[in-house]
Amino acid sequence: MTENIYPIFDKMLQRKDREALLHQKGIMIWFTGLSGSGKSTLAIALERALYERGFLCRILDGDNIRSGINNNLGFSDADRTENIRRIAEVSKLFVDCGIVTIAAFISPTHAIRRMASEIIGKPDFLEIYVSTPIEECERRDVKGLYAKARRGEIQEFTGISSPFEVPEHPFVSIDTSRQPIETSVAQLLQAILPKIEK
Ligand code: ADX
Repeated sequence: MTENIYPIFDKMLQRKDREALLHQKGIMIWFTGLSGSGKSTLAIALERALYERGFLCRILDGDNIRSGINNNLGFSDADRTENIRRIAEVSKLFVDCGIVTIAAFISPTHAIRRMASEIIGKPDFLEIYVSTPIEECERRDVKGLYAKARRGEIQEFTGISSPFEVPEHPFVSIDTSRQPIETSVAQLLQAILPKIEK
């Protein structure tokens, strides 16, 4: 397959050159948690807080990616794995641009998250577990999907009819049912700023 392919990476500018240009370090901030746990809300609030401090970020979010690059994928194990594999490959390009890259995907299993961290590179991969209990996610039911899953109208719904494996050693853990968003953002900034400041 790689016959007649001649990579030109050695002639390209390097990640450190782009990081110097941006006065920041590229990093992957990987939110994982149930649907409705608050991943997207935290990602958006964090992006804004970092932007106000002069950092360039880019969010990759479940529903956006699934309506674009991954619009041919469903929720079987194989499709979730392919979903996250593509997202990790794309994220790696962003991180290599020196961008603070923020992903908000359920990414439900140890194996899926391990794959993402291996593609992106473990030192660049910060796992943020949004640990909001399923009772609270279901009570919020922002998209009405838990109700549908309970009625059997959606198959393989994470937390109901498909597993979610709790991360064992997350970089940060946040339960959005226990603290206001301002506290969560402050907690995230404290952990993340030392990793991205040049
Ligand atoms: S992942 O498991 O492959 O990481 P992803 O984060 O991209 O999932 O997409 C999750 C979103 O898809 C949920 O927030 C929800 O809106 C929607 N969704 C639709 N069907 C399902 C399902 N069976 N399980 C989980 N989420 C679903």
